This record gives sequence, C-alpha cells and structure tokens, in this order.
Amino acid sequence: MRQHQIGSKSFGRIGLGCMGMSWAYGPSSDDANFEVLDRAISLGVNHWDTADLYGAGDNETLLSHRTEKYRDQVFLATKFGNVFDRSLTSHQDQVEANSPWIVDGTPEYIFKCIDNSLSRLGVDFVDLYYQHRVDPFVPIEETVGALKTLIEQGKIKHYGLSEASAETIKRANKVHPVGAVQSELSLWTQDYVHDVVPTCYELGISFVAYSPLGRGFLTGRYQSLDDFAPEDFRRRHPRFAEEAFAANLAIVGHVKIVAARHQCTPSQIALAWVLAQGEHVVAIPGTKRLQYLEENAAAVNIRLSADDFVELGKIKPPSGERYEATGLKFVNL
Ligand SMILES: NC(=O)c1ccc[n+]([C@@H]2O[C@H](COP(=O)([O-])OP(=O)(O)OC[C@H]3O[C@@H](n4cnc5c(N)ncnc54)[C@H](OP(=O)(O)O)[C@@H]3O)[C@@H](O)[C@H]2O)c1
Repeated sequence: MRQHQIGSKSFGRIGLGCMGMSWAYGPSSDDANFEVLDRAISLGVNHWDTADLYGAGDNETLLSHRTEKYRDQVFLATKFGNVFDRSLTSHQDQVEANSPWIVDGTPEYIFKCIDNSLSRLGVDFVDLYYQHRVDPFVPIEETVGALKTLIEQGKIKHYGLSEASAETIKRANKVHPVGAVQSELSLWTQDYVHDVVPTCYELGISFVAYSPLGRGFLTGRYQSLDDFAPEDFRRRHPRFAEEAFAANLAIVGHVKIVAARHQCTPSQIALAWVLAQGEHVVAIPGTKRLQYLEENAAAVNIRLSADDFVELGKIKPPSGERYEATGLKFVNL
C-alpha cells in the first residue's frame, strides 16, 4: 500500500470510510463489518474515518470493538459539528426555531463532543478531529482556538475541516496548521479541483476525498433506484432522482471505457483518478464488503495514462446537486 503521512504517522493512501457500516446506505451486519475492519488492517487500509453523527454515535461504538485491538496501527479520524443531540448545542435559538440542520462550532460544544467521541471509541486520543461543517455563526478562529486546546491536552493529534472554502482554510491555518481538509471529490464532484485542492497543496495540508466513488454510483453497480433498500439515503439524493439517475449513467460509460483498458473495475478507475489529483490527496471509499475493500485497496497501484485523462475529461457535469437545498447551505463555507 502506498503511504501518506500526517504528522509522525503514516497510513495507506486508500483508507476506509466507515459511515455505511452504521448509517445511510441500507442494512449491515456487525459480523461482516468486523471482518472488513480486520482485513483492512492486513491490507494496510488503516486510515479509518467515522463521525459522531454516523448512527448518532453507533459508528464510533462499532469501531471501538476494533480500535481496542489495533489502536497503534490505525490512523483514526472522527468529526463533530453536525448536531444530532439537540440538548448539547449552544445554539438553543436554532433549536427553538426548529432549524432542520444545526452546525455548532462553539468551544463549549466541541469540548463536550470530544469527550463523548473518545468514550464511545474507547481511546485516549484521535489522530484527526474534523469540524464536520463550518458554523456560519462562529468565526473559524474561535473554533480553531478550541481545537488547538484539544491538541495541547493530548485529546487530538491534528484537526481538520470538512467542506470548508479556500478562504476559511487559509484563516484557520493562520491560527494553527490544519492537518487535513475532508471534502467531496470524485469524477462526478469536481467542485474543489481548482481552488481547495491547490490551496491545500500550497499550504502543505492533506486533502481527504470523501465519497470518492460518487456514493457508489461511479462503480457502475447501480442501474435504478430499485437497487436501493427502502431506508437508503440515496433514494432522496438529487443525483439519484429518477431523471438525473438516467442522465448520469453516461458518466459511468466513460469510466467503463477506461476500466476496460486497464482490465480493472470502474471503481478502481474512479479511485485512481482521485489519487491522481496530487500526492497530498488520499481517498476514503466506504464499504461493508470484503470484496470491495480488496478491490479498492488494489486501486492504489493503477496509473492513468494521458489517453485515460482525455477519456475521463469528456465527463460532463452531473445532473442534480450533490446535496438537497439545506445541505448545500453548508458546503464551501
Ligand atoms: N465529511 C463528510 O461530510 C462526509 C460525507 C459523506 C461521507 N463521508 C465519509 O466518506 C466515506 C466514503 O464516502 P461514501 O461512503 O459516502 O461514498 P463512496 O465511498 O463514494 O461509496 C460508497 C458506496 O459504494 C459502494 N462500494 C464501495 N466500494 C465498491 C466497489 N469496489 N464496487 C462496488 N461498490 C462499491 C459501497 O457499497 P457497500 O456499502 O455495499 O459496501 C457504498 O454503497 C464515508 O464512509 C464517510 O466516512 C464524509
């Protein structure tokens, strides 16, 4: 596994997004999830990504059964900021106004969240602690001030930002160096290629690409909404809505052409494209299946040619936004 380093710790450039094991993408089983986590360690897929939000703490609790065993080998990242327990937030005015999505970047909230996450994960510290979304009502300097305190206390090794704009990243970095920026990046979400990705490179910040497989769409595995379980979040995602879905299948067509050249899967091409965006870029594809985990790990060795980039460059912007209206208010902030 090709390596990447943040601070003194190295980990594989292909990591593991653990969200789907507890949330968003249909049913899962603990036994299968544990098998995936065990195999991930032997493959060098040791950058594990979770958040307090995923299953309202359940995903962190799930991981605790394996962090117990592998703490030293795992580069462990979790997140705070998307409020799921409204009794904890400092933004009680937003609770009273019944805001559909509350983001809290106040120091008081952060200090409560880190202790809850460490306790659920069963660890003394996390390697990376992200603000899951930038709080529009709290200056980033104040949030980063609190994160710096957590670094000094030894509760976190590095802090990160998710879906932050280039401007916010620069401001944050002046208070304390940003360890990583985690934002959506894939063949169908290229929004940050010309600003945030180069800004991270210039500032020496790692870029962690989430949903690098386009929430599974780029794998070519899904043909219609009928392929998703009734509770699957993608049934309500704008890019998976019926008309958008049909239009977006053209994107997968280009990925399949390149996959045929390399005799590999479309998923592996999607991941190779993400890693080709820079040495500072890593990917955290999500899966709860051994076969996909192994396939994704192997993508680290695929090198795309100039002809491949020409083919993938033919991909047109997708149909449908990458979040519904409320979610879009919290990206690129
Ligand atoms: N910071 C943020 O706001 C944010 C937002 C979203 C996600 N994330 C993080 O990023 C991680 C990855 O993103 P994601 O899970 O949304 O999307 P993704 O990695 O783009 O896609 C995951 C989907 O692709 C499927 N899949 C994975 N590998 C495959 C393969 N080789 N062949 C066919 N299908 C495959 C998975 O299926 P199975 O589930 O059946 O294995 C799952 O349905 C998450 O787990 C989470 O940790 C962060």
